[in-house]
Amino acid sequence: MSQPTPVVDEANAEQFRAWNGDDAQDWVSNADRYEAASARYDPWLLDAAAIGATDRVLDVGCGAGVSTRAAARLAVDGHATGLDLSAPLLAEARRRTAAAGLRNVDFFQGDAQVHPFEPAGRDVAISRFGVMFFADPVAAFTNIASALRPGGRLAAVVWQEFARNEWLRLLVETLATGRDLPRPAPGAPGPFGLADPDAVRRILTAAGFSDVDLADVREPVLLGSGPDDAYAYVSSLGPVRALVRGLAEDARAGVLAELRVRLSERAGPDGVLLGAAAWVVTAVSGR
Ligand SMILES: C[S@@+](CC[C@H](N)C(=O)[O-])C[C@H]1O[C@@H](n2cnc3c(N)ncnc32)[C@H](O)[C@@H]1O
Repeated sequence: MSQPTPVVDEANAEQFRAWNGDDAQDWVSNADRYEAASARYDPWLLDAAAIGATDRVLDVGCGAGVSTRAAARLAVDGHATGLDLSAPLLAEARRRTAAAGLRNVDFFQGDAQVHPFEPAGRDVAISRFGVMFFADPVAAFTNIASALRPGGRLAAVVWQEFARNEWLRLLVETLATGRDLPRPAPGAPGPFGLADPDAVRRILTAAGFSDVDLADVREPVLLGSGPDDAYAYVSSLGPVRALVRGLAEDARAGVLAELRVRLSERAGPDGVLLGAAAWVVTAVSGR
């Protein structure tokens, strides 16, 4: 079945390219590991969303759909829709959802900032690390709010600042090898796009949400079941490959060996776990 051409804001075109290019293939191949890495945040997200049996749920930036399926299992007499920019991840989401035998789920490719949602057609919007990438967050959350009925709920989990996320700090610091690498910019579209709590309150209030709350949740990220598994995962990631790409052969071998050592040092009985911090953001649509 052919999909309609997704509506994407010009300002999000770079994200569209990124999530439909080589890195998307990484996400598809590593989908189980991505799911497991931040799985300790899932109960917090679902608890905050308080999805009821008849709820109609929208999952923004659903990726391979782990949270969409979790929502569908709760909305047994309702429905869950996953929306994402990435065609490869949506194909994987559909495959996994069919394999799970879930029927109250569908997926759409589109840009949450401009996707023409059915007005007030949803009771809850959720996101598992999928709402930090918008070029214009106020426009995007205004559009998401338009999909919610008055009094509908938003629940999203987003990363706190880089400094509080040891899992990424360890990777960047190990791979920098003395290079002064730019830190991910707080507030810019990317993993730390909603790291500043005051900015989140401003954005959501401007977008028409009320009762905005951010809960400080600290759960570790799982990089692998053991040192070899963690190294295989981490060294295959697009951003990691990009960080080592510019290095000469010897230097590259050196930093990858150092990465293996650093990951081994963090292995424990529950796998390779590194410190992380997220906000669980909740808000209500309409003032
Ligand atoms: C970090 S991934 C999270 C994926 C998934 N929620 C998970 O937890 O595995 C971020 C996702 O947001 C999607 N995304 C980024 N910008 C988007 C936009 N403007 N509209 C819809 N989805 C977007 C990406 O394609 C990607 O799948």
